Formats: sequence, structure tokens, C-alpha cells
Amino acid sequence: MDPVEIKPGIYWVGGIDWELQNFHGYLTQRGTTYNAYLIVDEQVVLVDTVKHYLFDELRARISKVLDPAQIDYLVANHVEMDHSGSLPRMVELAPRAKIITSPKGEQGLRRHYKAAWPFEVVKSGDSLSIGKRTLQFFLTPMVHWPDNMVTYIPEEKLLLPNDAFGQHIASSERYDDEIGWAILHEEAAKYYANIVLPYGEQVKKALTALSGLEIEMIAPSHGIIWRTYLPQILDAYQHWAANDSEARALIVYDTMWGSTGQMAQSLRDGLEQAGVPVTLRNLKTTHISDVLTDVIRSRAILIGSPTLNMGVLPTVGAFLTYLEGLRPKNRIGFAFGSYGWGEQSVKKIEAVMSALGWEMPIAGVKTQYRPDQDELASIREVGAELGAVIKGSE
Ligand code: FEO
Repeated sequence: MDPVEIKPGIYWVGGIDWELQNFHGYLTQRGTTYNAYLIVDEQVVLVDTVKHYLFDELRARISKVLDPAQIDYLVANHVEMDHSGSLPRMVELAPRAKIITSPKGEQGLRRHYKAAWPFEVVKSGDSLSIGKRTLQFFLTPMVHWPDNMVTYIPEEKLLLPNDAFGQHIASSERYDDEIGWAILHEEAAKYYANIVLPYGEQVKKALTALSGLEIEMIAPSHGIIWRTYLPQILDAYQHWAANDSEARALIVYDTMWGSTGQMAQSLRDGLEQAGVPVTLRNLKTTHISDVLTDVIRSRAILIGSPTLNMGVLPTVGAFLTYLEGLRPKNRIGFAFGSYGWGEQSVKKIEAVMSALGWEMPIAGVKTQYRPDQDELASIREVGAELGAVIKGSE
């Protein structure tokens, strides 16, 4: 694919990772892109690079516009190696280029690459005239690492926010309206849930800092460029950062001999009976990174595991660990599970929910060995009670 001119004199020159299926534990079934942007003005600027193994794509796209030796500035909005991985080779290709980055960006790049590059460190509000255009920089720590910053070009009303507003989608299309909101909403939600979720407070600060800017286009460093669905994606980020959710329930479970599975189905029946939409996910068949997309939508999270070795099944243990790291807030929790002689699984799940600060208005439910019809009926009732609580929270 050729470079794509997204504004006059500004080119997408990134790399497309069609085959990536797992981004350090996040299933990327649609692949991803690492977007880099070449700005041709009196000074030539490259904003971000690509993962190291896509360097040849980056170089080829830049070379279709100009000789990379003409680049004056390399802007490193983020240290993480999916964006800085081709910096060492870009420095070789563009020997006169200075590297613009945040204070933490400089520290991180020095630590990672052990190189004496010519850094120019910027702070929030700093700007740089490159001819007809100005680059403005805003630090956005923890969206996604401490070093993150965004680059804004006021003359173009263009925001280059690196990880923020990204989605893991590999495509020939470069713009949101070429893909459609339904798919983008799903992928942007999954991306937020798995990457940005712990940093809601920092996202709110970043959105406030950017709220005074006129923005016509957001060109992140993963996936497509937003030019049509800007109000939708900005609104979605406001809601996700506030830990808002829909009045719906998510049941996540694994089962050893089917008993906890039966409990999950009875809870689902009770919730449905109360008129609450439910998503049911078995951790044997659904990857935790996909379950997280359901977590950020759902007000109530029901987690079930039988007791195994005085704890939970390993799949549920992995999910709980992942959840503790991502820290979704303002949720209603409920734990359930079957047991043979120990009864620890419900307590372990409730301990995690409690650490996350979730409300648990209804005590967890356990059944020994196999639930009988009476027990399943009473679990269905518990589901309906939980449904009433969810309805009451609307
Ligand atoms: Fe896409 Fe935090 O790197």
C-alpha cells in the first residue's frame, strides 16, 4: 500500500500487522496496525514509528514521499516498542533528526535503547513551529505509560494521540467511515477495556486538557483514523473513563463436571425473567481479553467456579488476576460455585470483588456436588433478585 495523504502534506506511513493474533495476551483476531505520520513542511517530521519487524514497510512508504535523510524531527509520543521499535533504524536513516519526547519518554528511550540520541524534551503546552504548521505537545501520563504524550497540529485541527482512541484492526481502509461504527465501537471498547481501563482518572484529565482544542481528525497509532465518528468515540471515552455501564449482567464461569455451569444457566434464567439482558461466557471457550469487552458494558458481574484445591479453577484464577489489574469500578458483584467438601471458591471470588470495591448486595451461592431441581429453582430466584437490583440501579 502507498502512503495515504490524510491532510495536504501529511501522510500515513505506518505498518500493517495482518497476522498478529496475540498482543502480549490480548487476542487481536483482526490483526493491528502501527501508525506513523510524516509531516512535510519547511521542517520534516515523522510522528512515531512501527514495530521493529515492519521497519521496511515504514521506510518504503516514507521513501515514496521523500528521502528519509530529509527528516528533521522524530516525535516519540510513546516509548512502548510497538511505536519506538523502528527508532534506532530511523535515527540511522535520518542523521540530522532530533528526537522530541516527554521527560519520561527520554528516560524510557535511554533505558531501553542505551543510545546517545539528540533528544529535545518537551512538556505540556510546548509548541514547535515547523513552517506553515505548529506542533503542540500535551503530556498524557498513563494513557498508556508514564511517558505518553499527544501531538496536536492546530492549523489542521489534527490530533495524533498515539495509543488513545486506538483499535486493533488491520485493514486496507484507513478511515472510520470505511469500516463502520458497529465494528469500530466493538474494537475500540475491547482496546479500552484491555489497555486503558486502569487509567480512567488519567483519561478524564487528558480529555479535559484536550477539550479546548478544535479537532476535526484523530489519527491514533493503532487501527483506523477517526474523521466521521469523532463525537461517538469521544463520548464513548467519557463513559468508559467514568466507569459507566449498561443495566445488563455478565456471567463468567468455568465448570469441572457441569454443576457450576448449571448454576450459571439458572442465574441467567432468573436475570432474564427480571428483564435484564445477560451475556454468558464460559472461560473454557472465551478468551479473557474478549470477556473484558463484556465487563466494561455490564453493571453486574457474576463470577462462578467450583472449588479446586481450596481455590478456583485455573481459568477463573487467571481471569480474576487480570480483572484485579484492570480494576473496573462501580460494579455489582456476585459469586457462585459448586464444591465437594471444601467451600473456598465463592469466598476467593468475593475477596477479589471486595478488593475492587464492588457492591455485593446478595450473598454468594454454593451447592454441594450436583444442584437438584429445588436448588436450581432457588438459584433462579437469586438471579431474579439480582435482576431487580440491576433494574433498580438504572
Ligand atoms: Fe501501542 Fe502502549 O503501545
